[in-house]
Amino acid sequence: MKIFLDTANIEHIRHGVRLGVVTGVTTNPSLVSREGKVDYRKLVQEICAIVPGPVSTEVLGQDVKAMVTEAREIAKWADNVVVKIPASPEGVEATSVLARENIKVNFTLCFTLNQAVVAAEAGAKFVSPFVGRLDDIGEDGMRVVGDIVEYLNRCQLPTQVIAASIRHPHHCLMAAKTGAHIATVPYDVLLQMMRHPLTDIGIQRFRDDWNKVMTVGESG
Ligand code: E4P
Repeated sequence: MKIFLDTANIEHIRHGVRLGVVTGVTTNPSLVSREGKVDYRKLVQEICAIVPGPVSTEVLGQDVKAMVTEAREIAKWADNVVVKIPASPEGVEATSVLARENIKVNFTLCFTLNQAVVAAEAGAKFVSPFVGRLDDIGEDGMRVVGDIVEYLNRCQLPTQVIAASIRHPHHCLMAAKTGAHIATVPYDVLLQMMRHPLTDIGIQRFRDDWNKVMTVGESG
């Protein structure tokens, strides 16, 4: 499973890429607004220059014409930019238009298998089921991810699943077990994925045992 960072924060993205594990980024209007008043285009272009893989950024228009016009403009910003289109009926139509123009779409705010079925038919490159937001209303977000993965695999469709709205490391491991192609994770969750208290205790214990008889760096 590939790991994308769900953020518009440059420092966090730089760190994720430095780690060698983050190959893509997803942003949305809320995440961009957290960075303060920025030049949207410049920020996205900066992210695209740092990240080796796809960088999703969302349109703000709500009708088909506005979404398509915005998406065509965003698609010119960088080679690795992907346009996020919301999973509304207007979004489906916009996705079909854009897919015919070879503009890559991440079909976002997806909450059901039906929405994913439609996204794949419309030609979306990615579909993003929002796990945490479904869990928040008492539904099983990861079950929806599993259903979508199973459907796309069975029908051998090229659309890739991005498990989104990830809230904690358990979501990540479930996404991996479920067969999601990608999980897009907040920076703090990425940090949590790499840590385990037993690893920290183990490192310390090995060091303490060594130091009881030798000094660090002494080999024998
Ligand atoms: C995905 O692409 C979205 O940016 C994101 O995962 C939304 O997550 P949230 O529910 O934590 O806002």
